[in-house]
Amino acid sequence: MRRELWIDGEWRSSGMYAELRSPYSGERIAEVAQAGERETGEAIAAAERAFAIMSAMPAHGRTAILERVARLMEERSEELARILTREAAKPLKTARGEIARTIQTYKFAAAEAGRIGGETIPMDAAPGGEGRVAYTVRKPLGVVGAITPFNFPFNLVAHKVGPAIAAGNTVVLKPAGQTPLSALALAELFEEAGLPKGALNVVPGRGSVVGEAIARDPRVKAVTFTGSPEVGIALKSKAGLKRVTLELGSNSALIVDDTVRLTDSLIQRCVVGAYSFSGQICISIQRMYVHESLFDEFVSRFAEEAGKLVIGDPESEETDFSALIHATEASRMEEWVAGAVRRGAKLVAGGRRLSEAVYAPTVLTGVPEDEPVSCREVFGPIVCVEPFRTLDEAIEKVNRSRYGLQAGLYTNDLQAAMKAADKLEVGGVMINDFPTFRVDHMPYGGVKESGFGREGIRYAIEELTELKLVSIRLRDGG
Ligand code: SIN
Repeated sequence: MRRELWIDGEWRSSGMYAELRSPYSGERIAEVAQAGERETGEAIAAAERAFAIMSAMPAHGRTAILERVARLMEERSEELARILTREAAKPLKTARGEIARTIQTYKFAAAEAGRIGGETIPMDAAPGGEGRVAYTVRKPLGVVGAITPFNFPFNLVAHKVGPAIAAGNTVVLKPAGQTPLSALALAELFEEAGLPKGALNVVPGRGSVVGEAIARDPRVKAVTFTGSPEVGIALKSKAGLKRVTLELGSNSALIVDDTVRLTDSLIQRCVVGAYSFSGQICISIQRMYVHESLFDEFVSRFAEEAGKLVIGDPESEETDFSALIHATEASRMEEWVAGAVRRGAKLVAGGRRLSEAVYAPTVLTGVPEDEPVSCREVFGPIVCVEPFRTLDEAIEKVNRSRYGLQAGLYTNDLQAAMKAADKLEVGGVMINDFPTFRVDHMPYGGVKESGFGREGIRYAIEELTELKLVSIRLRDGG
């Protein structure tokens, strides 16, 4: 299969193709056209032209398009889940879950398009402000550059394209190198849903070419990026005065205090939080701090439960756990685990490469805090479990991180819950749940090196619109 670039409502070739292979089997899946600077510039020009149409389109028109996209996705959900499974090695049942979430995300975007309002401003609160009626409106920014990761190729694209279109912007989308097929399939759905040509352009290509061209181009008014802190910081430094939203990494932590019972469902939930999509989720559980009175029992039951995961072909109905996105990631897991073990960490489970790109669900304890497997983002199936004595100590450990996306605390103590909610330095605190919890309308984003700005449709619309004040002077004397 050969796929081209989607620019100005048509398929265009750049003459350069990249081979796409299954991360699990290594089998060749497709050849995908790669945009260069010229094609990226053409996509931006098309998006700029389409902005005249999108910014004039009434809210109900934008709602209708987004509703139609959601409906088309519902009709084709199985086909879309299989694209995702093939290109990202996301196990089929997990991929079906992502498609269901993506449909929700577009439905939220459709609804929010009709709620982009402002407020009235009591100008007479200031001397000299009398005699005026004033209100705010939210205006679309223009061309939005969206740069998306491989781990949720449909839903994290929806979190950028959905709010951008809902607000009347246009989009140039650069999907991750390993997952262009889902983004190109989405372009077809938007076309069928009646989006004006040029309002969504999809330009797979290298980050150093396409991403950089998007970040530097003055016609692009906002850049919204999900990926690594290193790339996010580099993009921001090139983006000049553009709006920038950065959803970056994390080494997310969960605290389990001594007021909870270690039920089967709690243990199972922790396994899901740690190993879904092989841990390749920004809010995957990477560090667990368990009260010392429960520690031994927790570690052995958690490792036993992790051992029940069905590992194998992502296209099989039974599979829970499959390949990392690339074999080089499995090599990195090997290196990081070996480094921690050399410094005294205990390997409780896993710690092995099962095939070229599959690395076993791994549990470590006694990991020095400055080991990469604890202090950097693993983005893989490795968790570090450590005991703690007091809640203050556990909170301090969670906060001793360059990241701050989400954190979780299991407790039956209201005071403990409120203290954690107040003190944890993260964008979202999940009480009695794992840090991996997300539904698609809630505000989502981080502090510190986890980035800034918030997604969750309504919040993303705030990032992708300009607040404009209108003040009407009614009479003299104001
Ligand atoms: C992410 O990896 O940042 C997204 C997590 C999610 O949407 O569940």
